[in-house]
Amino acid sequence: MCLKNRTAMITGGGGGIGSAIAESLAKEGVKIILFGGNNAEKLNATKEKVEKLGGKCFIFAGNLTDDNFIESGVESVIKSVGGVDILINNAGMAINQSFDKTPAETFDKIMNINVRAPYLLTQKVLPYLLKSDRASIINIASVVSHAGYPNQSAYVASKHALLGFTKSLAAEVYEKGVRVHAISPGGVYTDMVKVSRPDLTPDGMIMPEEIADIVCFLLKNRGNAVIDEIIVHRLNKQPFLV
Ligand SMILES: NC(=O)c1ccc[n+]([C@@H]2O[C@H](COP(=O)([O-])OP(=O)(O)OC[C@H]3O[C@@H](n4cnc5c(N)ncnc54)[C@H](OP(=O)(O)O)[C@@H]3O)[C@@H](O)[C@H]2O)c1
Repeated sequence: MCLKNRTAMITGGGGGIGSAIAESLAKEGVKIILFGGNNAEKLNATKEKVEKLGGKCFIFAGNLTDDNFIESGVESVIKSVGGVDILINNAGMAINQSFDKTPAETFDKIMNINVRAPYLLTQKVLPYLLKSDRASIINIASVVSHAGYPNQSAYVASKHALLGFTKSLAAEVYEKGVRVHAISPGGVYTDMVKVSRPDLTPDGMIMPEEIADIVCFLLKNRGNAVIDEIIVHRLNKQPFLV
């Protein structure tokens, strides 16, 4: 299925996976909205990459845990570009910390960005997605959506919750023509891993571009065979699962 002239909102577009998704979609002729994020340098770097490919890219910077930003940001997006066909909930944060050292504030912070923000943003964008004839939502979950890992209690809880939300929404909006998927990667070599595990090298890691290819695959394949979730990992090689 051709994605040309579609519009995609991507959160965390300045980050490793988000930036790779923006590039891949731009190559398919998709108009890119980088929604949320505070690192102007990284957001601008992604915009430059998209524009080098001849694509269109708009930045709406802000904190996704701020309800006012989500509310007014979505309105601004619609005013500027008219509509949205694709929403990629990708922004997130991880923490590698033992349970006894993870206070409620940290738990709340992680739940807010990893679960509440996608939930609320999807609620605000859904009315516009329903106007599209090929609307899709992709949530970037994780292999930790399925299993428990030590020292990641808050992160694991958040990604289980994100997957639960994804499944429920997928069932609820399927008849309305909106496809909802989760991609659940193992370790991807981005700043998230570089910061939390500086001892690791790219060897054995998934590259962000591989996740971006899967995003394109999901968006292009909207037949009768519905894909709920794609779990991605490197057998035998995975040194660290997030
Ligand atoms: N890397 C992995 O191994 C891995 C594996 C499985 C799943 N994932 C998931 O993949 C997604 C992308 O992660 P990544 O690996 O690409 O990490 P990354 O490079 O650190 O990117 C994370 C992005 O999230 C944004 N973000 C964080 N908090 C935000 C907030 N409050 N408001 C707006 N934006 C916010 C960051 O923007 P700013 O820097 O501008 O704040 C950044 O662009 C995450 O959901 C992560 O959980 C990653």
